[in-house]
This record gives sequence, C-alpha cells and structure tokens, in this order.
Amino acid sequence: MDIKKFQKGAIALKDIRRSLLVKPVRKSEHLSFNWREFSFFNNSEHGSVLFFGSSRSLAPLAFLPYILSLELIFFRRKRYFVKLKQQAVGLFVLREKHDALYISSLAVAPEFRRFGIATYILSYAEKLARRLGKQRLELSVLKLNTAAQRVYRKFGFMKKEEKKWSYVLSRKI
Ligand SMILES: CC(C)(COP(=O)(O)OP(=O)(O)OC[C@H]1O[C@@H](n2cnc3c(N)ncnc32)[C@H](O)[C@@H]1OP(=O)(O)O)[C@@H](O)C(=O)NCCC(=O)NCCS
Repeated sequence: MDIKKFQKGAIALKDIRRSLLVKPVRKSEHLSFNWREFSFFNNSEHGSVLFFGSSRSLAPLAFLPYILSLELIFFRRKRYFVKLKQQAVGLFVLREKHDALYISSLAVAPEFRRFGIATYILSYAEKLARRLGKQRLELSVLKLNTAAQRVYRKFGFMKKEEKKWSYVLSRKI
C-alpha cells in the first residue's frame, strides 16, 4: 500500500491505529518475517542498528546469515505481523519468561514510522502480559538506538540493567 494514498484516503492518519490488526505468523511465513525484520532494522536511524552502527553497505553480505540465524533465535518464540489491510507495517516477537513477557524484537516499516505503531504494539503486548498473569514487560535496546529508547521511555519503561552495548528495560503492568 502506498502511504500517500493512505494519507489521502478516508481514514485520517491519527486513526491509523484503529485499522491495524495483529496476526500471528504461520510457519510458512517465517522466512518472509525474518526478511522483513532484516529490512526494517536495516532502515533504522543513525545508520543500521543491525550491526551496532556499522555501515549499511555491509548489510548485503550479512543478509543470508542474518535471516537464517533469526530462525534459531526466534525458535519457540511467537512472531507477529501488524497489518494495515494486507500490508505488514510492523512486526514483533514475544517470549514468555517466568513473571515477565519479553519483547525479543519490534520494528516498524520505515514509511509508517511516527504514526504510533510501535506504541500500539507495546499496548498490545501489555494487554497480553496482563492476560497471561505476568508482572512486567521487558526488552533490550542498544545504547545507540536513541529513537527506540524514546518510544520505550514514553511508554513508561525504566532501566533495569546496563550492559556494554545495551540496556535492559522493564515496565510494571
Ligand atoms: C523505533 C521504532 C520501532 C519506532 O516506531 P514508531 O512506530 O515510529 O514509534 P511511535 O510512532 O509509536 O513513537 C512514539 C513516540 O516515541 C518517540 N519517537 C519515536 N520515534 C522517534 C524518533 N525517530 N526520534 C525521536 N522520537 C521518536 C516520539 O515521542 C513518538 O511520539 P510522537 O510521534 O507523537 O512524537 C521504529 O523507528 C523502528 O522500527 N526502528 C528500526 C527498528 C528498531 O530500532 N526497533 C527497536 C529495537 S529495540
């Protein structure tokens, strides 16, 4: 879908979240999910947050190993697309921990950023965590990924732990 058409359409941009649907990813869609994960992350601000800020020109070399290794990393975790009509405009991955729901990955398509889709995903995960009887939402974010940190802070996440390259953030629910 063309975002310009969407902007001109009947639904105002403010209402974009009302038109979103969360769809669990089927096994047959795993590789296409991993490919989109790669592509959304590779189009992040401040260069790529895929490779700790390394040049995007290195990305084609890492494409295949990256999407295959995601298959191992996301094995037994739940993958979800966020769809606007038929288009995947966002994605996320969840893992259940003993008392927390952990967001292993979260990304939004570059042309759909700043419409509140990441916030919508966090609200969805929060509702699910509550239903599962968890006490916290948790995630990790790279120190260089200041855009994502703003989203999480705005949503109420607090720093739980500091690692060399990243922070572990947590939000009570
Ligand atoms: C980070 C990311 C997920 C944000 O998604 P998004 O849908 O644009 O975020 P939202 O629209 O819900 O943003 C909510 C608020 O966070 C802040 N924010 C979001 N992106 C920002 C940016 N690039 N710069 C500054 N503030 C930002 C704003 O306060 C925003 O509210 P506003 O638009 O009303 O000002 C998206 O940019 C992305 O996919 N980046 C690449 C992958 C990635 O970094 N994932 C996170 C891994 S931990």
